[in-house]
Amino acid sequence: MTAPLKQRLGVLLSGRGSNFLNIADAIETGRLTGCEIACVISNIADAPGLQAAHDRDLTTETIVSKGVPRAEHDAKMVAALQQHGIDLVILAGYMRVLSPEFIRAFPDRILNIHPSLLPSFPGLHAQAQALEYGATIAGCTVHFVDEAVDHGVIVLQRAIPVLDGDTAETLSTRILAEEHIAYPDAIQRVLSGRYAVQGRRYIAR
Ligand code: GRF
Repeated sequence: MTAPLKQRLGVLLSGRGSNFLNIADAIETGRLTGCEIACVISNIADAPGLQAAHDRDLTTETIVSKGVPRAEHDAKMVAALQQHGIDLVILAGYMRVLSPEFIRAFPDRILNIHPSLLPSFPGLHAQAQALEYGATIAGCTVHFVDEAVDHGVIVLQRAIPVLDGDTAETLSTRILAEEHIAYPDAIQRVLSGRYAVQGRRYIAR
């Protein structure tokens, strides 16, 4: 009997890549099933996450974005992802806003993780925003990517309390631990196909 086909993940990152590594570990240990990381692509040549992917013998590509018009860069990204036969695009600290053309190339097939309970605190430094605002609950959100920043349909969220002594660093560390639970779980849910989207609501089936 032939093994069932694995769904192919394309991971995009710009930085340290702890979410990518955690997803790779989840696949290796069987916590996340039915998929493989088919490529890791970075817009930053010396991103530590890219090196980590290389060290794990994963297929890596650098498609530098600096100084390249967004449409041109995104066209290269889409072409690379299509070449690798990617089923689901995973943004894991990919610090670029995707063009509408990119998003339309993978309809409902791009996930992002954001370190806040959206719709609160979109954009950069979400953990510091939460702290400065005086939020008492913080967390992370995995969502489908649409054309607005940190906005698409929410797949899942995980919440934690903000502690009195928290700094942006300590809060970020505790949120990151939740991210590492949330992202593999959300990927598994989406890969299963057992859900429907009604308006903005993700409904598990
Ligand atoms: C994470 O906090 C994620 O929520 C945000 O970017 C950060 C990436 O961290 N989108 P890492 O590179 O995965 O460690």
